[in-house]
Amino acid sequence: MRLRIVTHVEHPELQGAVPNVWPEFMNNDQLVSDFWPTLYEVYPDFQLWLLDGRKPIGYACTLPVVWNGEPNPRGLDWAVTDGQGGMPTTLCGVVATLVPQYRGAGIAPVVVARMTKLAAAHGLDSLIAPVRPTWKDRYPLTPIERYVEWRREDGFLYDPWLRVHERLGAELLAPAPESMTITGTREDWETWTSLQFPEDGDYVVPAALTTVRFADGVGTYVEPNVWMRHSLDAEY
Ligand SMILES: CC(C)(COP(=O)(O)OP(=O)(O)OC[C@H]1O[C@@H](n2cnc3c(N)ncnc32)[C@H](O)[C@@H]1OP(=O)(O)O)[C@@H](O)C(=O)NCCC(=O)NCCS
Repeated sequence: MRLRIVTHVEHPELQGAVPNVWPEFMNNDQLVSDFWPTLYEVYPDFQLWLLDGRKPIGYACTLPVVWNGEPNPRGLDWAVTDGQGGMPTTLCGVVATLVPQYRGAGIAPVVVARMTKLAAAHGLDSLIAPVRPTWKDRYPLTPIERYVEWRREDGFLYDPWLRVHERLGAELLAPAPESMTITGTREDWETWTSLQFPEDGDYVVPAALTTVRFADGVGTYVEPNVWMRHSLDAEY
């Protein structure tokens, strides 16, 4: 493999070249969807495309934010709303994604290290991220506050993606229990998931990190993420 990381400024034609790997419901956080074009239009030098030679294999997005040092419970939704406006202080990781064939090969730490370099190059004080724990969907009934405390026998965090950040020296700040909010009618959710939701109540949905709650025919999913912070003092 010949891993290359380029910015959107350098290769704007790569937009749309990486297959969508997200479950359909994840594309329906209204705040994030409304903001998404801004990433590429206003902050193109903060968006990364990952290539194997010339083949697109993933992407990573970051966003400068104004941060007061407090991990906001609204995580990603905070970053694209209240985190905007004014002189940015900090770089916020938004997403990092590899197509499935390239996962588990140690690419992720290289990508995160590149994000921290971006932060330093733009004079920002650190890299923070509302990290989406990749194995939390296996435990949708476990509160995020408990899940972030799970560790392996070797002492490292149980969750693989949180562990990538931890190994690179990141500090786990706090859960972001309301990082994304996705709301839809029963019909919306049935289209997004190919499941049926015959009555109100809580449902386990594949790839969701917690349950989806239906009330009066409207389903609401509030996704928990985990705030982590990389200081720029570490050697990458
Ligand atoms: C998150 C993501 C970028 C991480 O990339 P990655 O290539 O899997 O990361 P790594 O290869 O560094 O693996 C990280 C750890 O998970 C382990 N791991 C990865 N895939 C695994 C698998 N299928 N089974 C068991 N362990 C696995 C690795 O062994 C490594 O563990 P270690 O800390 O003991 O060395 C990638 O999994 C991905 O694209 N996921 C889908 C999108 C997503 O959820 N992104 C994050 C939210 S934005």
